[in-house]
Amino acid sequence: MTAIVLAAGKGERLGLNTPKQFIKINGKEMVKIAVERMFKLNPRIIILTTPKDYVERTRKLFEGVNSIKIIEGGKTRAESVLKALELVNEDDEVVLIHDGARPFFPVDKTLRCVRAAEEIGAATLAVPVKDTIAISSDNKIASFPDRSKLWALQTPQCFKAALIKKAHELLKKDNFLPTDDTSLILRYNLSEVKIVEGEHYNIKVTYPVDLAFASVIMEELVNE
Ligand code: C5P
Repeated sequence: MTAIVLAAGKGERLGLNTPKQFIKINGKEMVKIAVERMFKLNPRIIILTTPKDYVERTRKLFEGVNSIKIIEGGKTRAESVLKALELVNEDDEVVLIHDGARPFFPVDKTLRCVRAAEEIGAATLAVPVKDTIAISSDNKIASFPDRSKLWALQTPQCFKAALIKKAHELLKKDNFLPTDDTSLILRYNLSEVKIVEGEHYNIKVTYPVDLAFASVIMEELVNE
């Protein structure tokens, strides 16, 4: 399995000067927490995307670590994925794609996600939505989807390599800005996507309040 860890975003919603992957949670850089956890899955290699100006700093952070390739990301998340996929040669392995801003993904459930991708082609971690979700029009509620069918998608997401490479090849000629990778699989009708129920503590650190949650999650919830 090859793992792609995406950490080339600017983290603008966090409102700090440092990209969020270098912000420390309980003394350790978020990207380091995510990558160390990823190694528990025994990937053949981890490809890590980082912002252009942070390639050197990221290389320093992982000095002496084997089986990691650090590359400059793209302008969008999808471009970063594409750049990483260009380094994946094998077509018959599973490629795992993960947002580096989710440092606490559950290892056991991610393994299930990898197995599901081996079996059916594509799989994602997700949790049932706890809020009532409304669809708006002009800032007014237009309709309510049935909550019992709604899932909040997380990462890791896992794919047969050939499938996800095909998806990103097709995206090149498409005017679509995906926020994850499973959406491409359905958009181009390439496979079914299995949902593997994940954990609510697998948060994406996005807003300032998430840093407080992350600190508590690291101390009290994550022990694998
Ligand atoms: O912006 P968003 O929260 O969707 O980003 C998800 C992940 O993708 C983050 O871990 C971020 O660092 C990464 N990303 C990237 N390259 C970009 C934009 C985002 O690797 N150009």
